[in-house]
Amino acid sequence: MFEIQSVSKSYAKSAVKAVEDLSLTINDGEIFGFLGPNGAGKTTTIKLLTGILSPDSGSIAIDGISLKDAPMDAKRRFSFVPDTPEMFSKLKASEYLNFIGDVYGTPVEDRKNRIEFYSRIFEISDVLNNKISSFSHGMKQKLFLTASLISDPQNWLLDEPMVGLDPEAAFNIKELMRSRAKEGKTIFFSTHVMEVAEKLCDRIGIIKKGRLIFIGTMEELKKKDSSKSLEEIFLELVEAKSSVKTVQE
Ligand SMILES: Nc1ncnc2c1ncn2[C@@H]1O[C@H](COP(=O)(O)OP(=O)(O)OP(=O)(O)O)[C@@H](O)[C@H]1O
Ligand SMILES: [Mg+2]
Repeated sequence: MFEIQSVSKSYAKSAVKAVEDLSLTINDGEIFGFLGPNGAGKTTTIKLLTGILSPDSGSIAIDGISLKDAPMDAKRRFSFVPDTPEMFSKLKASEYLNFIGDVYGTPVEDRKNRIEFYSRIFEISDVLNNKISSFSHGMKQKLFLTASLISDPQNWLLDEPMVGLDPEAAFNIKELMRSRAKEGKTIFFSTHVMEVAEKLCDRIGIIKKGRLIFIGTMEELKKKDSSKSLEEIFLELVEAKSSVKTVQE
């Protein structure tokens, strides 16, 4: 469970709040999709949830554990897949995976089984002895996804996880999200793809200029205007539609 309470965040030298007075609770067993235009504050929110960034005000708890007061305990409760998989390029993939296993204190046998299982799902099992620097962008993403599941985390946090992945991997992520949610685990991910959100999410949140402008189910979003497509409703909510029209005219 992720709990964000009245969180605000500005970057240094910026008068604008990247996230403003955000409150959000994502429950156990829930797949939550976070949508919003470029620069809306999705990655900032996700980085706040990981502790990479600290809020200027407000509080964050993971499974009821305060990220500020007990950061190590809170951080053990989730894993994170960033939007740019650029890290530790000099390591072999297997070394990186074992390093992550060490960080989370995952028992050796569990770690071995999970590395085998997930690296096969993401089709990187044959290249685990290669250096990460030799991996393509998508292969790095698959490595990060595999790494993120080594600890079998209660909470799975992903920033635009399907971008740049082949269709099979994207399908597998969705299946993994579904099966984990069924086990009572929590999934929080950002996406720009309305269709993915529609098929996958129990609830979505829409953020615009740092403020949450919608939270609810896809059904609730559709109810805003049954004559319009979800995409149209979304674009109207974030007020992007008029600018698209201007470009086309
Ligand atoms: N490192 C940074 N320094 C200064 N400002 C930043 C930094 N990172 C993000 N911002 C600003 O914070 C705001 C929110 O950015 P954020 O990256 O959270 O958006 P996003 O919703 O993830 O966008 P995208 O869909 O493009 O990934 C934007 O105005 C952005 O310019
Ligand atoms: Mg982002």
